[in-house]
Order: sequence, then structure tokens, then C-alpha cells
Amino acid sequence: MAHSLKPCSAFIITIFIFFSVSTAIPKALNPRPFKKIYAFGDSFTDTGNTRTATGPTGFAHVSNPPYGITYFHRPTNRYSDGRLVIDFVAESLSLPFLPPYIHNKINASHGVNFAVAGATAINHSFFVKNNLTLDITPESIQTQLLWFNKFLESQGCKKSNQSGPECKAALADALFWVGEIGVNDYAYTLGSSVSGDTIRKLAMDSFTEFLQALLKKGAKYVVVQALPTTGCLPLAMYLAPQDDRDDIGCVKSVNNQSYTHNAALQAKLQQLRQKFPQAVIVYADYWNAFHTVMKSPEKYGFKEPFKACCGSGEPPYNFDVSAACGTPSATACPNPSQYVNWDGVHLTEAMYKVMSDMFLNGTYSHPSFNYLLGNKQRQG
Ligand SMILES: *[C@@H]1O[C@H](CO)[C@@H](O)[C@H](O)[C@H]1NC(C)=O
Ligand SMILES: *[C@@H]1O[C@H](CO)[C@@H](O)[C@H](O)[C@H]1NC(C)=O
Ligand SMILES: *[C@@H]1O[C@H](CO)[C@@H](O)[C@H](O)[C@H]1NC(C)=O
Ligand SMILES: *[C@@H]1O[C@H](CO)[C@@H](O)[C@H](O)[C@H]1NC(C)=O
Ligand SMILES: *[C@@H]1O[C@H](CO)[C@@H](O)[C@H](O)[C@H]1NC(C)=O
Ligand SMILES: *[C@@H]1O[C@H](CO)[C@@H](O)[C@H](O)[C@H]1NC(C)=O
Repeated sequence: MAHSLKPCSAFIITIFIFFSVSTAIPKALNPRPFKKIYAFGDSFTDTGNTRTATGPTGFAHVSNPPYGITYFHRPTNRYSDGRLVIDFVAESLSLPFLPPYIHNKINASHGVNFAVAGATAINHSFFVKNNLTLDITPESIQTQLLWFNKFLESQGCKKSNQSGPECKAALADALFWVGEIGVNDYAYTLGSSVSGDTIRKLAMDSFTEFLQALLKKGAKYVVVQALPTTGCLPLAMYLAPQDDRDDIGCVKSVNNQSYTHNAALQAKLQQLRQKFPQAVIVYADYWNAFHTVMKSPEKYGFKEPFKACCGSGEPPYNFDVSAACGTPSATACPNPSQYVNWDGVHLTEAMYKVMSDMFLNGTYSHPSFNYLLGNKQRQG
């Protein structure tokens, strides 16, 4: 089984997201409450770090058309036809799109994106030690923390003295957006002897360590995205037996796994809220937001909830690991906005927009994003 999964690594690896609307912010308030955003995560949030990272060759496809056709009209190394949730978040806060950390000479005055496709919550060494060769991306959330620390140093914010003005400039007025992380950890261990419970526990430890490090540095406004309903992705549907399905037609065991992970995540966040009462920690409920759309896709403008837009035509999901989006054998559908899924794993811009709306001005964030904004406005 592990063997048959190998070709999928390019997809699994790339998980990531995001969104928003300028009208999400109450009009009476400052349209630019945050000066900058720092983002973390995997391919659902990566806006270009994968290009120069030592990623698997399968990632090469993201540099090819039709990636990027809808909004940028060229590949930008985003795993979608257009904008991600993090792009909509930046737009809604009247900030420019975040530059990927790894590029030279970025202008970091409005933030930086540290997310990288294929990243895991658990340190890479764990996968190496267990011979889990599906994990060929050396970056984990811990790597992103190291990058963030290096970035702070480059801004003059030294580890030895964090009370200086440079640290204030770098950290005050910053929104920390932590995209989903952990989907890859489970994906890389598919078919291995490492249990889901082990992954969940280790992932939670590493993630908590990461989040706590940000909070200790003084992060005050933090949004943490849950894992989505990973059992609804065409890749999961393609791999799972036909009888492993839930009430909305997705892979039951996989949706259960992300649901269970999210429950543990929420418990951790609750502990961190108690430990860092000066911070606002928002849980963006990706699982339920996604689930709601999959229950009534047409209500959100989607005609194809399960079929990938970009693929080689393989029924029933338009998904075939050997003819992935970005290779010559795959083409994009003419109407990506009617599809939830873009390439078998990642979502279309249309879906990312719907998700962003649900997080930013809907009822899928706890506490709500407007609560976070209101708190920020009061603090100045
Ligand atoms: C970076 O961007 C800010 C805001 O757009 C601008 O004011 C500043 O001049 C830019 N810095 C550089 C070095 O280009
Ligand atoms: C990994 O592979 C090496 C070499 O084949 C083997 O010696 C080792 O026991 C394996 N480790 C695990 C955890 O399976
Ligand atoms: C840390 O930096 C601040 C501001 O630059 C300075 O006032 C303070 O003395 C420094 N503290 C130490 C321990 O160096
Ligand atoms: C992961 O690695 C980093 C350094 O690379 C280390 O500081 C951290 O403790 C490790 N985390 C876990 C959960 O093993
Ligand atoms: C998920 O699976 C576990 C056991 O594998 C089970 O105990 C639990 O009830 C399931 N949860 C849901 C929401 O289906
Ligand atoms: C969020 O606001 C936008 C713009 O006003 C609107 O189109 C969208 O329906 C809203 N979303 C939700 C979930 O309320």
C-alpha cells in the first residue's frame, strides 16, 4: 500500500489555504488595523516558498500552467488557480500579498509568509528515523519557527534582548496567521506501522511548542486554522475503499482522523489561552466550514464538489496520480469557480474565498474574527 501511494507524494505534500473580504471589517473601524501579517503552514498557505526550498521534484508542477490561471494569469507557486485564504486575509486587512520568506530582497514591511508546501507539524527527523520516505520535504513547523527567529534577527530584534524598539517594530501590530499544519504528517505515514494516535500526539507536542514560542515572543493576535475535512479531497476518495464513506459522501475514516486531531488542537488552544491571557487566540474551524459547503455545495455556487478541476480526465474524480495538474497530460476545466477542488488535493480560489468569508465574517471562527479586530482597535 505504501508503495502504491508513492506517486501521490507530490500532492500530499502540498496541502494549504486562505481568504477574505474588505467588507469583513466594520466600516467605522480602521481599515488597516494590522501593519503586518506573519503566516505559517503548508501548501494551503504557501505563496512561493516551495520554489527554492529543497522540495520534492513533484512540486515542479506548481510552477507550470494552468496553476495561477484565474487570478494571477501565470503560475506563482501557489497551489491553486488563484488566491489562497492568506491572500484574502491580506486583502481584507488592506495589506499587500505576503512575500515568501525564502525569496531574496523581499520587502517585509507588511509581513512575511513562512509557510512551505509539504511541511509537517512533526520534525522531519522523525520521518527519516522511521523510514517514511514519502516525507521528502525537510521543512516542518519548527523550521518555520527557526526562519522566523532568523527574520527577527535580521530586523535587529535580538534574542538576547527582546525589549528593544526593533522587536516592538517587528512584533507590535502583527497578525499571526497559522494555516493548517498536520495533514502531511498523517499522509506520510499512510500504510506504515506508525499509528494515527502517535502522529496526533507528536504533532500536537511540536505544534504547541511552536505556538508557545510565538506567544512568548509577544504575539498577541493569533489565528490557528484547524485541519479541513481531508476525507473530502479527491486524493483521499481515490485511495480509500468505496465503503469507507460518511454522511456527506467523503471518506469517513479520514474525516474522523482530522476531526479527532482538531478536538485535541482545541483543547491545547484552551490551555494556551489560560497561560497567555493577554493574547487573542482564534480557532478557525476549517473542518466544519468545509463540511457545511460539502453538505450543500450548490448553495455556495459549486456544481462539482468531488471532481478536481485540473486533471487528465480520469473518472470519477478527474484525478490520476500519473497525470497530475501541471503536466502535459492534464488540462483545467473552463469554469474553476464551479469546482471545490483544483488539483486533487488543493482547493480552487472560489473555495478558498468561501472559506475565508466563513472564517472572517462568518460564524466559523472562535472567538470571531471581528472580536479579534475589535480587541486590536481598542488596544490601538
Ligand atoms: C517597502 O514597502 C513599504 C510600504 O509599501 C514602503 O514604504 C517602503 O519604501 C518599501 N521599502 C523598500 C526598501 O522598498
Ligand atoms: C529503517 O531502515 C533501516 C535500513 O533498512 C533499518 O535498519 C531500520 O531498522 C529501519 N527503521 C525502522 C524504524 O523501521
Ligand atoms: C535592551 O534594549 C533596551 C532598548 O534598546 C535597552 O534600554 C535595555 O537596556 C536593553 N537591555 C539589556 C539587558 O541589554
Ligand atoms: C524539533 O527540532 C527543533 C530543532 O530543530 C527542536 O528545538 C525541537 O525541540 C524539536 N521539536 C520536537 C517536538 O521534537
Ligand atoms: C472516530 O473513530 C474513533 C475510533 O477510531 C471512534 O471512537 C469515534 O467515535 C469516531 N468519531 C467520529 C466522529 O466518527
Ligand atoms: C462576507 O462578506 C462578503 C462581502 O460583504 C459577503 O459577500 C459574504 O457573503 C460574507 N460572508 C459571510 C459568510 O457572511
